Amino acid sequence: MAEFQSKIRTIEWIDTYSRMADQTKYPDKFEFIDIKTGQEMFDAIKNMVVRGAPAIGIAGAHGVVLYAQELKDKNLSFEEFKKELLNKSDYLVTSRPTAVNLYWAVEKQKEIIKNSTSDIESLIEELRINGKKLELEDIEINKKIGDYGAMVVPKGATILTHCNAGALATVGYGTALGVVRSAFAKDPTIQVFADETRPRQQGARITTLELKMDGIPVTLITDGMCSYFMKKGMINMVVVGADRIAANGDAANKIGTYTVAIAAKYHNIPFYVAAPLSTIDTNIQSGEEIVIEERPHEEVTMINGKNICPEGVNVINPAFDVTPHELITGIITEKGILKPDYKNSIKSAFSAN
Ligand code: MRU
Repeated sequence: MAEFQSKIRTIEWIDTYSRMADQTKYPDKFEFIDIKTGQEMFDAIKNMVVRGAPAIGIAGAHGVVLYAQELKDKNLSFEEFKKELLNKSDYLVTSRPTAVNLYWAVEKQKEIIKNSTSDIESLIEELRINGKKLELEDIEINKKIGDYGAMVVPKGATILTHCNAGALATVGYGTALGVVRSAFAKDPTIQVFADETRPRQQGARITTLELKMDGIPVTLITDGMCSYFMKKGMINMVVVGADRIAANGDAANKIGTYTVAIAAKYHNIPFYVAAPLSTIDTNIQSGEEIVIEERPHEEVTMINGKNICPEGVNVINPAFDVTPHELITGIITEKGILKPDYKNSIKSAFSAN
């Protein structure tokens, strides 16, 4: 295994810029793109060149460094520099509203900016070092998530996943697919069913690609098929990622996840969410408070640049939905698997942090 893992780093800081895998072109083209300005980073996040909650978190941390490098040439005083950089950081997080990891990572950079009493050059260096640190930590966290999750994967299981919570949604290894990778390393008889995940088809384009490259058996199904296969007894567990988890365990993830969770409950199939603690937003009490991103209508009306419906039809395109905590069997984190009552288990995970 690990052909994919050893070769691909989704996002990486190199000297003075951020290099990322361009996910808009998969599976046709495998290209990297170098992001050299803050605005380029904003656009890359918004246009989903980089996507997946942990990956856009790291993109945010890198974006702050890029803005800092640009502001350095503006002849500002240290205090003016810090103020401008905090403003740019706040702008950066508006690129995508739902995944809390973006906000979390940018906040980490903002703390450094606010506390700095040195000079512009040293502050930039500190931000670079912190960006790199968050980047490297992400892989280690995902491996821990993977190893905890593998403990609850039944022997020979078929695991259903939705969207892409894989290496390409993180710096490497993945959260939901991290669980798959760790389980497969112990038991090569497991396999994955991947939902296509309309409208952006992350399941079809990205999940199948990275699993195939790692030699993990994967079967692509369309989003409406999961109940059919659950009823036939062909799915043993569901593992998905998350973009923001509230203090009560309600979890926002790619649109369609809620439907899968309801189907899993009906068929008595365990439904796990795999996510780092940085995806848990303890500032919000329930999923009601999660802002759901609305994306361009063309994502629904078109496939591969071709219209699939009559001109002028009404469209709504929320990018995420919220799975209520009562449908979630466990939340797999780097600190272990959190179980209901989530209010308590989440609180304990943070106090042990
Ligand atoms: O719109 P995307 O592709 O950024 O959405 C990604 C997801 O919903 C993932 O499941 C989630 O970010 C978890 S990634 C480890």
